[in-house]
Amino acid sequence: MLFDALTVSFALHLLLCADVALASPTLRRSESPSSRGLHIPLTRRAAPERNDAELGLWAKQQKELLEGKYGRPTNTNTKRSSGYNLLVDQKLDSDYYGSIAVGTPPVAFDVILDTGSADLWLVDAQCTEGCDGLQAFSPSSSSTFTNDTKPFSVTYGSGQAAGYLATDVVQMAGFSVQNQVFGVCDQVSDGLLIAPVSGLMGLGWQSLSSSGAKPLWQALYDDNVLDEPVMAFYLTRFQNASRPQDLEPGGVFTLGSTNTSLYTGQIEYLDIPSGAVSYWTLPLTNLTVNSNSVSLPSGSSSYVAIDTGTTLIGGPASQVASLYASIPNSAAGTGNYEGYYTYPCSTTVNVAMSFGGQSWAISSDDFKLAQISNGECLGAIFVYSTGSGGSNSGSPAWIVGDTFLKNVYSVFRANPASVGFAAIAPDAQSSVTRNGVPTATIGSASVSVTGNHSGSAALPSALPHLVTLLFVMTTSLFYFL
Ligand SMILES: *[C@@H]1O[C@H](CO)[C@@H](O)[C@H](O)[C@H]1NC(C)=O
Ligand SMILES: *[C@@H]1O[C@H](CO)[C@@H](O)[C@H](O)[C@H]1NC(C)=O
Ligand SMILES: *[C@@H]1O[C@H](CO)[C@@H](O)[C@H](O)[C@H]1NC(C)=O
Ligand SMILES: *[C@@H]1O[C@H](CO)[C@@H](O)[C@H](O)[C@H]1NC(C)=O
Ligand SMILES: *[C@@H]1O[C@H](CO)[C@@H](O)[C@H](O)[C@H]1NC(C)=O
Repeated sequence: MLFDALTVSFALHLLLCADVALASPTLRRSESPSSRGLHIPLTRRAAPERNDAELGLWAKQQKELLEGKYGRPTNTNTKRSSGYNLLVDQKLDSDYYGSIAVGTPPVAFDVILDTGSADLWLVDAQCTEGCDGLQAFSPSSSSTFTNDTKPFSVTYGSGQAAGYLATDVVQMAGFSVQNQVFGVCDQVSDGLLIAPVSGLMGLGWQSLSSSGAKPLWQALYDDNVLDEPVMAFYLTRFQNASRPQDLEPGGVFTLGSTNTSLYTGQIEYLDIPSGAVSYWTLPLTNLTVNSNSVSLPSGSSSYVAIDTGTTLIGGPASQVASLYASIPNSAAGTGNYEGYYTYPCSTTVNVAMSFGGQSWAISSDDFKLAQISNGECLGAIFVYSTGSGGSNSGSPAWIVGDTFLKNVYSVFRANPASVGFAAIAPDAQSSVTRNGVPTATIGSASVSVTGNHSGSAALPSALPHLVTLLFVMTTSLFYFL
């Protein structure tokens, strides 16, 4: 009986230790303790007799089972890590890019970091269309380059990038993926990229990718090398700065952890609705403007994509109209501003959004996109007509871009699939702008995974790549202004 009691307490000790580790602050789990798997089988049977050797084996097995269950690597060669990438804010918060390194020897490229799509692509040294002045990827300079000889194209409504698929080593934030599949594009629509940007890295889920290839973040997550299954963004604001430059420090992208110096309080995670994991999808549950609630349909008619690659916020016509109806003297835009609304610049507009949890305010400085005529300002929320009720029923009703994301610390969590928000630390912007605009750099990768080459045969996604459609729209808007 003594033996039995000892065994139970030993097992309990292991379970409790695992539970404590799991509840450590870095994991910030929000589930109730009952979901953590503290399952102690209660059995009244007498334990079978074990000799010393059996006890040793049993103990070892219990430990391995637990470590396996909670994801602690049993293979000591598996190294987990996290890293970060300093971002650049291009053209008054229009887009945010970071750097990656591709090939052998590695060459650094600036790419837009886009949670609203899932393909990585770069402009090709052979580019013939739309690549003037852009730094291009040169396949012949990389000894590890493989041509997959499959066509690649990603369509963005009014434009596209096209070329072929290839495989090479891609490094980012201290991680390296040996067989990353990406597009090498020799045709790029005019205005899609502005130098020094050379391409785009999609940070959505593999099911969203046009090529079917596994995105870099997901290869790292699947190979269990991230300290935590998260990617996090802090984005700076320069739209209201007194003398903004074309390029300004853009914030920090962290892969494999969050950066506690950039936010305060808890991260509130909200689950992606089941069946909606492709974009980083959340339901919009409450939208207020100067304290008036806009009435919203329920269910998938109010799904939003949380999208770092979109500058503004697009939503269904009727809800956008009722939002502006709460702003006195607002008016629907015409001509180039069709789909936008104007309002008196003297009005302070306070919009807040909630996705099932707390309400997050959008600064009136972000809502006020630009002054377009005497006293009339353009609002940053516009009608996005291919959303719910439009021609494409597979896409989310709303696209929530940087206008919102500048106001929160945002975390994209693979497991459980969710998006989290926290309040930005008061000194975040001064801490990241102190060192000026970062340049593309080649760090050393401390953790390397093989990646998944075979994923490229998967089904191409039928979903349109809205993100950059909006990116193009807003970029052209800035050309008008
Ligand atoms: C890769 O293959 C495609 C055809 O599939 C071809 O057009 C392209 O020139 C090739 N690139 C290189 C660098 O060989
Ligand atoms: C820009 O907006 C932020 C948030 O509203 C504010 O804290 C900051 O002081 C503003 N900067 C300028 C130069 O007005
Ligand atoms: C919507 O948000 C506002 C502002 O935070 C709050 O006052 C209101 O109670 C919320 N409404 C609902 C239905 O949650
Ligand atoms: C957090 O971000 C700051 C930039 O404000 C950076 O200097 C620091 O190294 C980051 N810390 C980690 C652990 O990534
Ligand atoms: C690669 O991806 C495919 C499709 O997603 C999957 O079936 C396969 O198991 C993966 N292979 C590796 C080595 O991860």
